[in-house]
Amino acid sequence: MSLTGRSLISLGDLSLNEIGQVLGVAEQMAQGIGFDDPALRSAPEALDRLLATCFFEPSTRTRMSFASAMLRLGGQVVDMGGAESSSAAKGETLADTARIVSAYCDVIVQRHPLAGSARVAARYATVPVINAGDGAREHPTQTLTDLFCLRRAKGRLDGLRIGLCGDLRHGRTVHSLAPVMAALGSELICIAPPALQMPPEVLARCEALGGTRPGQTADLAAALRDMALDALYMTRVQKERLTDPAEYERLKGAYVLDAGLMALAPEDMIVLHPLPRVDEIAREVDADPRARYFEQAAGGVPVRMALLALVMGVAPEPSGRCALREPGASPVAELTPDRSLQPPRETRRCDTRCTNPRCITGREVYLPAECCDAADGTTRCAWCESALPDS
Ligand code: NCD
Repeated sequence: MSLTGRSLISLGDLSLNEIGQVLGVAEQMAQGIGFDDPALRSAPEALDRLLATCFFEPSTRTRMSFASAMLRLGGQVVDMGGAESSSAAKGETLADTARIVSAYCDVIVQRHPLAGSARVAARYATVPVINAGDGAREHPTQTLTDLFCLRRAKGRLDGLRIGLCGDLRHGRTVHSLAPVMAALGSELICIAPPALQMPPEVLARCEALGGTRPGQTADLAAALRDMALDALYMTRVQKERLTDPAEYERLKGAYVLDAGLMALAPEDMIVLHPLPRVDEIAREVDADPRARYFEQAAGGVPVRMALLALVMGVAPEPSGRCALREPGASPVAELTPDRSLQPPRETRRCDTRCTNPRCITGREVYLPAECCDAADGTTRCAWCESALPDS
């Protein structure tokens, strides 16, 4: 199916084929902007398209790389400014903002602190909406960036062994990344203290897609020493999502990846991090050739160029280069590329309002209560996907 005109709310909105298409176009974009070789850089022609960036939560990489991507495509960008300088501060609803901003642009990129907010924008906007992070729920374009970096570093995306470490409970990047890696036949090891472990519903989705449930441990040193990891994906403890400051103080130092720990890790294990880092990766690791997080962040530009171009219907024909594996690389895992990563969700009106305090329906009270049935048999809020009471 074509990506033209489609919104991207969850990574599961894409099939593996479509993810491969985005990554393939991203390689073409990378060449055009001289990502690897500045001599190959070519100036873009003007593109009569506008991107609106609506960030209701802080961002450096995502907001700027989206803007950079649109400008490098030859288009232009209008930025909403921070939530405090927009009409949200006067009490405007997200639905009205999405409707209005649609009139000013061809595509909206939105970040918001509440789960389900991207779905609200997509419901009311008349142009495609790309989710740049909705609370602790998902961050699909970060995952596309992670996959671009991983495939370049490892030559393939299938059948890898990946450690996910840190705040897996609140980290939206790992909620988007883990299911797709499971669908790609990866073995996942969730490394976190019990209070920050991966939510059971994400583990269940990984199991449904990959056939095995991710392993869980709190012991980073043992995982580095014994598990022959291909990649370690570090994450920051999400201070802004913890309600108790004392809990943050207790958990913030849970892991510090330093030279001593890196000495235990495989020679060819790469280290990724969506950034920003706080203390979870010591500065000394930056000089280790296995540290790839700055390169990972740089890849956000060609990846977002590809996604924007595909959504706007102005992407070049894919070059045919296999984007899930390097040309000639032998398959490691059996893939079903056209399988959807998330079965189509049948949503319906319901009587029970969501009680998740981080759900967008708590703030935007005009939203109807809607639910859907999850694969694990529970009834979930159709906006934020948390289980409804009594389900
Ligand atoms: C991440 C995010 O916003 O979820 N940052 C990013 O977009 N690269 C990770 C984080 O803030 O910890």
